[in-house]
Amino acid sequence: MLTKSKARKARIAVFVSGGGTNLQALIDAQASGKLKSGEIVLVVSSNSGAFALKRAQKSKIPNLSVSRKACKSQGEFESKLIHALGDNHIDLIVLAGFMCILSKDFVMRYPERIINVHPSLIPSFCGEGFYGLKVHETALKHGVKVSGATVHFVNEVTDGGKIIAQKAVRVLAKDTPETLQQRIMKEAEWKLLPAAVETVSKIILKEKK
Ligand code: GRF
Repeated sequence: MLTKSKARKARIAVFVSGGGTNLQALIDAQASGKLKSGEIVLVVSSNSGAFALKRAQKSKIPNLSVSRKACKSQGEFESKLIHALGDNHIDLIVLAGFMCILSKDFVMRYPERIINVHPSLIPSFCGEGFYGLKVHETALKHGVKVSGATVHFVNEVTDGGKIIAQKAVRVLAKDTPETLQQRIMKEAEWKLLPAAVETVSKIILKEKK
């Protein structure tokens, strides 16, 4: 049984795999009231050693690790995720540095209810294989003068779902993939993601009424 106050917020699960700086941005947005239509009620990590889990624990957010490696198949992995989502009455899934592929069957269960943050201006430098530093290395190789971040809904096409928000970031002549990655996170991802999560949570609440 959900309490009345919890029922008035969209229930959010954040999927992570690593450092969790985007998760931290969401936790901070919740604490400051910028994220007010949704509440992070679950953090799921695909890696038990992820620092993101420590961030969840510090903020007393229920968390669990579902190791992809420990599962015999994609089906077993996803059925564990689906159970955790159902048990926690999740309305919205946020992929924040989540390094596992989700199948078409999985994403089709949650139309416009899974969002992802990608560190480039989609449709540039995105799609299969474009994650981590590779995105920024490729952007620098092309000599682009602006890059940025995109928050989008997740569908069966990698980085192909409807775009919710984008923010451009200037590329500097002295940039390395690492400095560009850091600046895009600081100037774009950490602002864009909490704002987009608030927008989508608000829509979910309206639909629930
Ligand atoms: C971020 O650049 C995010 O866009 C990407 O993974 C990186 C790591 O994020 N998907 P985090 O520190 O684990 O949130």
